[in-house]
Amino acid sequence: MASKFLPSSASGRRGVSRKAVLGTTAALAGLTALSATSAASAKRAVAASGTTTITWWASPITTSGPDVRKVWINAFEKAYPNIKVKLVSAPTNTDTNRATLTTQISGGGGPDVFMGDVIWPAQFGAHQLALPLNKYLPKSYWSTFAPGLVAGATYKGNVYGAPLFEDQGFLYYRKDLLKKDHLAVPKTWEQLVSDSKVILGKHQTKYGYVFQAADYEGATCNFMEFLTDAGGKVLNSSGKGSALTANGGALKALSFERQLVSSGVSPTAMSTFQEPQAMTAFQNGQSAFLRNWDYAYATSQAKGSKVIGKVGVAPMPTFAGHSYPGYSNIGGWNLYVNPHSKNIKADITFVKWMTGVQAQTIQATQFSQIPTINVVRKSPKVIKSNAVLAIVPKTRLVPRPAQTPNYAAVSQAIYQNVSSVVAGQKSPKAALQSMNSGVNKALGGTGL
Ligand code: GLC
Repeated sequence: MASKFLPSSASGRRGVSRKAVLGTTAALAGLTALSATSAASAKRAVAASGTTTITWWASPITTSGPDVRKVWINAFEKAYPNIKVKLVSAPTNTDTNRATLTTQISGGGGPDVFMGDVIWPAQFGAHQLALPLNKYLPKSYWSTFAPGLVAGATYKGNVYGAPLFEDQGFLYYRKDLLKKDHLAVPKTWEQLVSDSKVILGKHQTKYGYVFQAADYEGATCNFMEFLTDAGGKVLNSSGKGSALTANGGALKALSFERQLVSSGVSPTAMSTFQEPQAMTAFQNGQSAFLRNWDYAYATSQAKGSKVIGKVGVAPMPTFAGHSYPGYSNIGGWNLYVNPHSKNIKADITFVKWMTGVQAQTIQATQFSQIPTINVVRKSPKVIKSNAVLAIVPKTRLVPRPAQTPNYAAVSQAIYQNVSSVVAGQKSPKAALQSMNSGVNKALGGTGL
C-alpha cells in the first residue's frame, strides 16, 4: 500500500502525496483531475484535512549558534509536507530530561517521538516507556547503522531507539597557545597538567582544563574516562557487582580529578560545571583545554566565539605509562517512540528520515556531530568537512554500564561521589567506599 507519507520527490507533485491525491475523504475527492494552475488550492485542501502533527521532544544540542533541531525540522517538513513536527524543547540535563519524561509517559501522556540518551534503553524497555522499534522497521533498516549502535539501543532482544547521533569525548585545545609556547598536544594527563601550568604562568588563560564534574550524568562520563585510563572498572565480570575497589584505578582517578582543582589547573567551581559551563569558558577564551563531545567543535567556531580558528581536537590523553590514546566515553542520543502515541505511522516516517542520508549529512557537515549511518559516516566529503569525524578512527571507546534498568541509580552513586571529591567535600577514599556500596545497592534495584 502506498504510504500516506511519501516524500514529495516521490509524490510526483510537490506538497501533495500520492495517497493524499488518491485519498478518499470528501475534501480531497476529485483532486486528481486538478490542473497545474490549481495546485495551490490543492495544497490548501491537503493542509486542511491531510496533515498530521507530531510532537518531538528534544533538548538543545548546541549552546550557541544555529539550532540543529530547527534545521532538521524545516528540511523534514519540506520532504513530507503532510507531517508537521512540533518541537518541545527538553531540559539539557539528561537526568532532569529523563525524570520529566518517565513521569509523563508513565502517566499515559508525553510527546510522540523523543530524543533520548543512549543510556536509556534498559530502563525504558523494562518499563514499557518506549516502543520496540524492531517491530516497525525491517532488518535492512537496522543494518544501515555503524557497528555497535543498534546493540547499544537493544534491551532483551528488542531495539528501543533509532541511533540519531553518537557522542564521544574529545580533547579540545588552543592550538594558537600551544604553538606560541612550543608545547605539544598532551598525550598524558600529566602532560596536560604541565602544559596548563605553563599557559597559566604566562596568564594566557584563566584556567588550564575544564571538564564536567557537576552532580549529574556528565560527571559519570568523565569519571569513566579517568577510571578506565587508570586501569579500573565499574562492574565485575558477572556484571552484578562493583569492581571499583578491586584495584587502585578508581582511587587514582578520583584523586587526580581532585588534584586538577587543588593545583589550580581547573576552576574552583569545577564541581558545578556541566557541558554548557565548560563550553562557555572555552569559547570565551578562558581555558586552554576542554573535554567535551563532538558538537563542541562547531560551537567553538560559531559566531560569537572568541576562539574561532584557534581550536584543535585530539583523542583524550591517558595516564603516563599507559598506551595512548586515553579512553573516550560513548554517549549519544536515539529517537524513541512513545507507546501512547496516536501517530505511530508519522512518528516512524520522521524517525526514518532523521536517520537517513539528508538529516545525517546536515548534522555531520554543519554541526560537527558524529553520524550514525555508515554511508554518511564513511563519506570522504563529509569527513573532510567535520574536524571531529577525522579523529573518530583514532579514539578508544568505553561505554557506561547501562545494561541494567537501574542504571540511573548506578550512575548517581558514581557522580554524586565524584562531584563531592572535586568540590573538596569528601576525601577520595571515603568517596570510593560510598560509591562502591552505592553501586552494589543500585545493581539490586529495578529502575522505577
Ligand atoms: C551527552 C551524551 C550523553 C550523556 C550526556 C551527559 O549528551 O550524548 O550520552 O549522558 O552528555 O551529560
